[in-house]
Amino acid sequence: MTATTALLGSLLEPTTLAGLPLSSRFAMAPMTRFRSPGGVPTPEVAAYYRRRAEHGIGLIITEGVLVDHPSAGHETTVPRLTAGPAEQGWRSVTEQVHAAGGRIAAQLWHLGSAREPVDGIAAWTPSGVPGDTHPITLAEADVLLAAYADAAAVAVRAGFDALEIHAAHGYLLDEFLWPHTNRRTDRFGGSPAARAAFPAEVISAVRAAIPADLPLIVRFSQFKERDYAARIADSPAELAVILNAFATAGADVLHASQRDFAAPAFAGSPRNLAGWAKHLTGLPSITVGSVGLTRGFLGSATQRELVDRLDAGEFDLVALGRVLLGNPEWVTHAAAGRLDLIRDYRKSDEDRYF
Ligand SMILES: Cc1cc2nc3c(=O)[nH]c(=O)nc-3n(C[C@H](O)[C@H](O)[C@H](O)COP(=O)(O)O)c2cc1C
Repeated sequence: MTATTALLGSLLEPTTLAGLPLSSRFAMAPMTRFRSPGGVPTPEVAAYYRRRAEHGIGLIITEGVLVDHPSAGHETTVPRLTAGPAEQGWRSVTEQVHAAGGRIAAQLWHLGSAREPVDGIAAWTPSGVPGDTHPITLAEADVLLAAYADAAAVAVRAGFDALEIHAAHGYLLDEFLWPHTNRRTDRFGGSPAARAAFPAEVISAVRAAIPADLPLIVRFSQFKERDYAARIADSPAELAVILNAFATAGADVLHASQRDFAAPAFAGSPRNLAGWAKHLTGLPSITVGSVGLTRGFLGSATQRELVDRLDAGEFDLVALGRVLLGNPEWVTHAAAGRLDLIRDYRKSDEDRYF
């Protein structure tokens, strides 16, 4: 056993997540890649995910996949979850990942106000988002619930092992959670419980559309892509209201998106956001944020801290994002102590696809 293997420690051990057996405690974080023309994942996409499954990633979470509604997104190379060619494309992806011994979750995505009106369709938002946006009516909310449920059913047919609902980063569901973008006065706006109500209805609708034992992950964040200082909850008590609404609606796992996993979520405790999510709900959680971006991370005090906190039960899986763009074999090389085969992350890695 090399020194690095010893350091990666329990990250390399098999585990189960909400009943799903996984070969390691590493997840691949969802990353939009724009490689699916017409919304259909190609064989290149299947090979890309398979490569990460072959190299130590226990659970792959796909890039955001648009639910089947015109308001969900405008990009033509972002994948979709619809019956027909997209479903067939995803079936190839899940088969390739399974052949490599991996497991894969589809991330269900609606862009909310980030949808651009390139085709004359305004962005659907909770309320009050400036610009060319359309506040969602209660009847339209029901239409969106059906779109999420339909996408979930397609994902199950395509062979996914789990689903993740994207409720982070300032997209539609997060716009409901954040008071700044949710000024509604109906049952979907106001208190933290009311702001969580529409995302919770989405969770319920997806839960009802999938087998009872299929893990349902919900990804959330404090920050928005356009505002890193934003917060959906100012205190653990407010976060508890939101996350327990998710749990009651049928979430099995919480994926707490942070830019730096080591950052405390609230003053007065070192616990990170995934740690609070688990502490407040009792659900397993996934942490993420700046893990392994440089070679120097391996063997560092920060890396030891990550493993210690995992071992202490603060969170259950560790997701890797950007480091996997240029290093699909990162876990294999890190476990073998082959730091010479690992690249530091560079922004230009986002243009590579292999
Ligand atoms: C190119 C790129 C695309 C991303 N796309 C998504 C996405 O579709 N859905 C999502 O929830 N997060 C997305 N993210 C955020 C990542 O999942 C992850 O949280 C972030 O990169 C931090 O993890 P890291 O420091 O390990 O990279 C994306 C990040 C990058 C770099």
